[in-house]
Amino acid sequence: MGDITAEAAAPHSTFDLADLNWTPAGIVLSGVVDPAIFDLGVPILGICYGCQLLAWLINDKNVARGEAREYGETDLNIHKVGDSNGADRLFEGFGVLQFNFRVVFMSHFDKLVQLPEGFVTIASTKNTTYAGIAHQSKPIFGIQLHPEISHTNRGTDILANFAIKICKARPNWEMGNFTEKEIIRIRKLVGDKAQVIGAVSGGVDSTVAARLMKEAIGDRFHAILVDTGLMRLDECQQVKETLQEHLGINLTIVDGAELFLGRLAGVVEPETKRKIIGETFIDLFEKEAIRIEEEAKETPRAGKVEWFLQGTLYADLIESLSFKGPSATIKSHHNVGGLPARMQVSLPLINRRQQAQLKLIEPLREVCLFFEEALFEIVANQHSQLFKDEVRAFGRQLGIHEDLVMRHPFPGPGIAIRILGEVTPERVEIVRKADHIFISMIKEAGIYDQMSQAYAALDTNRAVGVMGDSRVYGMICILRAVTSVDFMSAEPFEFPFQLLKNICRRIVNEVDGITRVVYDCTSKPPGYTEAS
Ligand code: XMP
Repeated sequence: MGDITAEAAAPHSTFDLADLNWTPAGIVLSGVVDPAIFDLGVPILGICYGCQLLAWLINDKNVARGEAREYGETDLNIHKVGDSNGADRLFEGFGVLQFNFRVVFMSHFDKLVQLPEGFVTIASTKNTTYAGIAHQSKPIFGIQLHPEISHTNRGTDILANFAIKICKARPNWEMGNFTEKEIIRIRKLVGDKAQVIGAVSGGVDSTVAARLMKEAIGDRFHAILVDTGLMRLDECQQVKETLQEHLGINLTIVDGAELFLGRLAGVVEPETKRKIIGETFIDLFEKEAIRIEEEAKETPRAGKVEWFLQGTLYADLIESLSFKGPSATIKSHHNVGGLPARMQVSLPLINRRQQAQLKLIEPLREVCLFFEEALFEIVANQHSQLFKDEVRAFGRQLGIHEDLVMRHPFPGPGIAIRILGEVTPERVEIVRKADHIFISMIKEAGIYDQMSQAYAALDTNRAVGVMGDSRVYGMICILRAVTSVDFMSAEPFEFPFQLLKNICRRIVNEVDGITRVVYDCTSKPPGYTEAS
C-alpha cells in the first residue's frame, strides 16, 4: 500500500538480479525494484505502489498526487479492450463489457495521471482513471487496487488469472503435508539435546506453534505464559487449564504484572509501549531460560535452552518490518518489531548480557536470518508462510478444538495498546470490566463466531455525563468488532442496533468511571484492528 511521490528517494535496487540465477514464472511488484526485471521477459503484475512504480519508471510525469484520497471500498469498472495481445486476461471470466463489481480495496493518494506509453486502460474507478493498465505487447500489468486483501471482491480470481493464465504457473501449495514437514524441519533445526521455551498466550497462533513444538520435541519444550497484568479478566488461569487439560501442554505462568505496569508508567506513545513490552517479555523469558536450565541439570533433559518459540504470522511480519528502501514500517507488533534488537529476525543473536543465548524459532512464519533472503526463498523455493485462516486450518489438523481454533486473537501487548494514553492499574481495571461485559454479551447473543475480533478500549479524552443528580466527567469507552479473513483488511461488524444499545447501557451502568460508550465503524485500511 502506498504512494510513490511521498518518497524522497528514487526506487532502487536491493539486489543484483544477475547474481540470483533466478528464473521466476512471473513477478508481483509491490515495492522497490531493480528496473532490470523488465528485461527478464517474464510476466509482471504491479499492485498499488508497484503499479505506480511501473508507470513512474517509464516516465515520472505519469504519477502524481491525486485530488482525493481513496482508502477502503470502491467500485471498479472493468474495460474490455478486445485486442489480440491478451490485455484482458487479468480480468478474464469477470463477465461482459464494462462489467462493474462492487468493493475493491484501495489504499492510496497518489495515482496514475496519464497512461504510460505502450499501455491500455483495463480498469478505472470514480477517482482513478487508470486503476488498471496492461501493456499492449508485453505481459506487463498494473492495478491500483489490492487483490490480495480478502475484502476485495474476486481479488483471488485476479491473482489466479495472473498466476495460472498469464504466468502458466501450477497451483501446488497444500496444507496437507505442512505438519509433517514442519515437525521434520524443527527436529533438524533444534537437534536432539537443546531445549526450547515458548511464548504462549492462549490465542490460536501461539497454541498451534506450541502444539507443533510439543509434537516435535516432547518434554524439551517449555510453554510459558507471561502474566503482563494486561490480560483480560481471569484469562491466565483459563488458558492454563485449557492447554493442560485439552492439549497436555504444561504451562508455567510467570507473574510480570508489576514489572510491566511499572515500566509503562507515564508512557503514552504506542510504539514506545510496544517496544517496552517486547523488551520486558524477553527479559522475563531469558530469566526463565536460565531457571529451566538450572532445574534440568542432572536430568535427561540437561541440554541448553537455545530456542525461543513464537507464533508470529506472516501478516505480523509484513506490517512490522521495514524493507531497505522507501517502504515504511507500519507498526511494531510486539512479537516482531517490538522485540529488542538482539531478538529480531535479522540477527544470529547474542544476548548482550551473555546469560541465555536464545534464537528465535517461528514455525508459522519460517526461520530466517535476513528478511530479504527470506523473501527470495518464498519466491524461489516456495517456502510457506501462513496467514490467520491457514493457521486455523492447521490448528484443526493438529486436533485443537474448535473453540480454541476460532478464539478471537488477543495481541501480545494486551490491554496496553487498547488504552490510548497512559496505562495505569485503574485504567486497566476499567477497560477489563468493559471488555468482559462486551464479550459476554456477544457470546450470549450467539454471534461471537460471526466476527473475527472484538474488544473494548479507552480513549484519552473524557466526556461529561449526568448520573443521578450529579454531573460526572468520566472516561470514553470505544467498542470495536470486525470481520476479517487474514487481518490484512477488516470491516466493522454490523451489530443489531438494539443489542449495541444494550451493551452500551450495561457498560455505563456497571463500570465505574465510564460515562460514554462509542462504536468504531472504521474499516482496515485505513484504520487498524487495534486501537493503537
Ligand atoms: P492490526 O491492529 O495490526 O491487528 O490491524 C491485526 C491483528 O494483529 C493483532 N495485533 C498484535 N498481535 N502483537 C501481537 O501479538 C502486537 O503487537 C499486535 N498488534 C496487533 C491484532 O489483535 C489483530 O488480531
